[in-house]
Order: sequence, then C-alpha cells, then structure tokens
Amino acid sequence: MNDKMQILKCNNLSKFYSKSSSIFNKQSSRLRAVNKINLELNLKESLGIVGESGCGKSTLAKMLAGLIKPSSGEIEINNRNINDYSNKDLPNHIQYMFQDPISSLNPRKTIYQSLSAPLKYLRKLDERQIDQEIKKIIKEVNLKEEFLNRFPHEFSGGQAQRIGIARVLLSKAKIIILDEPVSALDVSVQSQILNLLNDLQKKFELSYIVISHDLAVIEAICDRVTVMYFGEIAEQAKSKDLFEKPLHPYTSLLLKSVPTINQKIKVSNLIETELPDPLNPPKGCSFNSRCEKRIEKCKNFIPDETIINDRNYKCFNPLNK
Ligand SMILES: Nc1ncnc2c1ncn2[C@@H]1O[C@H](COP(=O)(O)OP(=O)(O)OP(=O)(O)O)[C@@H](O)[C@H]1O
Ligand code: SF4
Ligand SMILES: [Mg+2]
Repeated sequence: MNDKMQILKCNNLSKFYSKSSSIFNKQSSRLRAVNKINLELNLKESLGIVGESGCGKSTLAKMLAGLIKPSSGEIEINNRNINDYSNKDLPNHIQYMFQDPISSLNPRKTIYQSLSAPLKYLRKLDERQIDQEIKKIIKEVNLKEEFLNRFPHEFSGGQAQRIGIARVLLSKAKIIILDEPVSALDVSVQSQILNLLNDLQKKFELSYIVISHDLAVIEAICDRVTVMYFGEIAEQAKSKDLFEKPLHPYTSLLLKSVPTINQKIKVSNLIETELPDPLNPPKGCSFNSRCEKRIEKCKNFIPDETIINDRNYKCFNPLNK
C-alpha cells in the first residue's frame, strides 16, 4: 500500500462562535476560533498541531473528528465527506483521545465494563469476542489483565493514558487524534507513553494528529508539523525542516521559547503584547503586533499562503529564505 495515501483532508475549514457582548447588550458578535484551514493527513503519518493556548487547536481537531460542526468548509475521511458517515460509523474511522481520558469514563463502572460498551454497540461483538478483544488490547498497552476490574479513580496518570489508548484502539479506527497526550505526566512517564504510541502506530498502521503545547513532544513523534496562530495556519512543514529552518517568525519564536527538551512553551512570557482579540481580528497579519520581522504592509494586508516544495507559510517577510 502507498504510504502517501491521503486519509483525511479539510478545505477552508472555519468555526465561529456567537458571543453576546454582555447580559445587558444582547447584540452578539462572532468569535473567530478557526479560520479557513486546509490540511491533509496521510496513511501511517503523524501530524503535529502546535500553538499557544486559545489558537484553535482543539476546535480544529474536534471538527475533524465530527464532534463539533464547522461553520463552513469541508472534511473528507477516506475520500468520503464526513457528513456521509452515520454517527455510529464515524467512530470506527476516527477517534479523539482527550487530555484526561479517564475523566470521560463512568466512575461507578469498572474499566472492563466501560471498554466493553462500545464493542457491543458500535462493533456488535458478542460477549466472548468482547472478552478476547479487551484482553488482547490491554496487553498491547502494557497493562495487566487485573487492571480491568478496577475503577477509574484507581489509576495513575500514565496508566490512565494507557487505558485511553486501549479505548481508542478497540474502535479499530485508523485515524487517532491525541489532544495533549502527555502534558499532564512526569517526564519519565511521558517518554514511555510516546514510545508506546510510536510502537502502536507501526503495528496497527495508524495515523495520528497530535496536539501539543510542547514542541519536544511534537519533535519526538511527528513527521510533519502545523503551526497555528490565532485560528490559522502560520506554517506547515516536515518536522526536520521546521525545527532546523523555520520560515515564519512565529515558529521561530516558539522554537526560541523552548531552550531544552520537555520545557513547555512560554511565549507569553517572552512577548509583552497580548494575543489579538478573537472578537475583533486585526486588519493585517494577525501576528503583526508581536512580530520582529514586521514591514509596513503587514499592518494592512493579510499574507496569502506561499507554497515551496512540500512546505507552506503565510508571511510577507519570512526568515531563512
Ligand atoms: N464552545 C465554545 N464557545 C465559545 N468559544 C469557544 C468555545 N470553544 C472554544 N472557544 C474559543 O475558541 C478559541 C479557540 O479555542 P480552543 O479550545 O480550540 O484553543 P486551543 O488551541 O485548543 O487552546 P488550549 O491549548 O488552551 O487547549 C478560543 O478563543 C476559545 O475561547
Ligand atoms: S506577515 Fe509580516 S507581521 Fe506577519 S509574520 Fe510575516 S513579517 Fe511578521
Ligand atoms: Mg485545546
């Protein structure tokens, strides 16, 4: 099978929320969460999505997984429009693993009970098949069978993450969205989970979209990276190219703000100015108030996407060209 086979794509994907300005003023305005995003994911590929808090990473990923409806734009999964899948069938193709997967489980049910429900209702397996599947998968995530009889509150952070991974694997979906998969874990546990995700990806031919604040996590696991700023793609490139030679000034700033492995992005500490207001986006480039490479036209015009070989960026005055 061709490794470059595209299995997910979105075109012009946007999400706006309406917000009323105050309880006295009922006039609502539009909050721009995600604006005109185009991206693709290939078979067996890991695509990282990185950017500051509030830049729209989770909103984008939830639209891709069918968890929230886009305001406009299109999503295709396995060359079929996402709207052509039924609510029952879509989770068999794409899964979303939340940052704290254990919190979405019923606290009064054992892990076995929670894991078995989707197998019964989504995959229509009988009790014997369910038992086989669960025991097989729990081994794949390196947990002992005895964990299956425990309740959600009895797990450590790393074990909880393994349960979350087991849960998405049981769906048989080939596309998995991992929203901050290791951000709540100690550094040593982080690398165990990242290694596990790498191994499982090869074994089950999975494609990942990995959302993270942590560039070291993205570098460890992703083939390509999408850098988001203020609801839009600032830059997209192969991981190696992006880390060695960023073109967008925002990417460069993110990289400078992570001096050593496993340190979180602290961009706001480095720049005095605030992020733009999503209720009132700036006229020109959305990064212009914070950008060291700003030129006159950046204040009044929005840069188009420039595509060079297999990378793209939106900037009038890029670095390293
Ligand atoms: N349900 C909602 N209603 C209104 N606004 C929302 C909603 N969900 C997200 N937003 C807004 O949309 C923007 C993008 O939010 P989103 O959660 O996608 O960011 P994020 O990049 O995932 O942030 P974080 O790294 O903190 O998780 C933010 O301005 C947020 O306040
Ligand atoms: S377009 Fe201008 S303001 Fe925006 S990132 Fe590029 S140089 Fe900076
Ligand atoms: Mg988020």
